[in-house]
Amino acid sequence: MSEHAIRLTVNGRAVEARVPARMTLVDFLRDTLRLTGTHAGCEHGVCGACSVLLDGRPVRSCLLFAVQAAGAEIVTVEGLGPEPGAIGVLQDAFCEAHGLQCGFCTPGMLIAAEALLRERALPSDEEIREAISGNLCRCTGYKQIVEAIRLAAERRAASNIAGAPHAG
Ligand code: FES
Ligand code: FES
Repeated sequence: MSEHAIRLTVNGRAVEARVPARMTLVDFLRDTLRLTGTHAGCEHGVCGACSVLLDGRPVRSCLLFAVQAAGAEIVTVEGLGPEPGAIGVLQDAFCEAHGLQCGFCTPGMLIAAEALLRERALPSDEEIREAISGNLCRCTGYKQIVEAIRLAAERRAASNIAGAPHAG
């Protein structure tokens, strides 16, 4: 299989690599960059566990080839905290409001929530539900996830936090 050289930005860091033409973005992030916070679930665009931000918009990284991300700015769940290894307001709210159980869907939920809160500082519950409607959770029943995102929105608005540090 042919290989291609790509350059992109991942969580604020410039990355250069050679990738097989058909390597998916989720495999590139997890296997090449070892950013295993992005989960591979269904691997055909249904569950949302693999969501990342690409130039600020949530995308399913299992449906993209790594070469398609050339030149883009990617933010994974690891990039949502204020610094590597630290959690931010959004993640903290998920912990506090019990917005996760097994945690498998959580990276995708956090990415969907981050994308929403950049657009709408104080979204309605309906807007929150709409924003996470493409992300499947088999554990929580979604109620606590909606509450967690609402809690994070209120705290971020009170602190005037506009977005993740690597958002650009
Ligand atoms: S792993 Fe990509 S949508 Fe399920
Ligand atoms: S917390 Fe288990 S799938 Fe959502």
